Amino acid sequence: MHKPILTALLLTTLAASAQTKVTPSPFGKASDGSPITAYTLTDPKLTVKIITFGAHITSVLAPDKNGKVTDVVLGYDSMDGSNAGYLADTKTYMGSVVGRYGNRIAKGHFQLDGHDYTLTTNDHGNTLHGGTTGFDRLNWTGKAIPNGVQLTLISKDGDQGFPGTVTAHVRYTLLGDKLRIDYSASTTKPTVINLTNHAYFNLAGGGDILNHVLKLNASRYTPVDSGLIPTGELAPVAGTPFDFTTPTAIGARINSANDQLKIAGGYDHNWVLNGPAGLKETARLTDPASGRALVVTTTEPGVQFYSGNFLDGTLHGRGNTQYIKYAGMCLETQHFPDSPNHPAFPSTTLRPGQPMHSTTTFQFTVTK
Ligand code: GLA
Repeated sequence: MHKPILTALLLTTLAASAQTKVTPSPFGKASDGSPITAYTLTDPKLTVKIITFGAHITSVLAPDKNGKVTDVVLGYDSMDGSNAGYLADTKTYMGSVVGRYGNRIAKGHFQLDGHDYTLTTNDHGNTLHGGTTGFDRLNWTGKAIPNGVQLTLISKDGDQGFPGTVTAHVRYTLLGDKLRIDYSASTTKPTVINLTNHAYFNLAGGGDILNHVLKLNASRYTPVDSGLIPTGELAPVAGTPFDFTTPTAIGARINSANDQLKIAGGYDHNWVLNGPAGLKETARLTDPASGRALVVTTTEPGVQFYSGNFLDGTLHGRGNTQYIKYAGMCLETQHFPDSPNHPAFPSTTLRPGQPMHSTTTFQFTVTK
């Protein structure tokens, strides 16, 4: 290769790897006394803060159409703030990585290779987001990497009732206006896995998300029973308030007379993503007033759109902001809920020697 080309290549690589500043700082202590580190990822376009406790995204500072910067995810200033904090809030999964199995497993029970497994239950007799002590409650090990941070967690054989010791890695990298999350996991025994991030977005930086406009690339969703467990059906969204194939305001149909919306008190369902396997556009969320937009891509087959129905004003976040109903919304890219009990759903089985990898990106842009 010619020397000038080599030099240009080297410079481009250096520029790319030097673009995002990664700054570790102390962020209090977990309940076992272990120190929690915050990693601030700073790019000229976006600043993102991640903590080792629960691998939470605590903050995403993004500009609006006039360049005004605000936090577009809900979060707390500290582990144990006066009104709430990551230690006290065991219910909302505020920006955490949920696992070992994100979303629900019916009655805390599943079978794999002819063995019965019983899990801890924490949601009306079901297992939600990994059980009573899920990955969101544990202090991961953090390490700065180019443009971001890698977090590692070892979940022992039998943790919450799941078989196999699982080693999970989550890599957050920031390049320009795009936050990329790479999940990977391996196991010592056959088990199930479903990792996602539970960030609550509010592109206005306050109020509720009912005026946000959402587009989902999904023609079907998985209807649920009264415990929010999928019935197994992949139902068409056409002609229902679940049709976001064309951009629609979230508040437009949220109170319509629809049994599925009534069960969940809003949207709290898994959409079946269209398109082939591989990284594909999943969702586009815009806040017309600020011009902020979020584009989500994922390699996962589904996304849980949760409209923050269970936020009830009792929790106060950063700056003492009261987190009212619909104060933020989640787009949890994932495998379908309760897959271990639905053989027809894409498999969540993880086997020794066959690690899983998945990628999700969140791009924060502006529409004029
Ligand atoms: C998920 C669930 C919701 C709720 C939230 C946390 O999104 O689907 O039902 O439990 O987590 O409050």
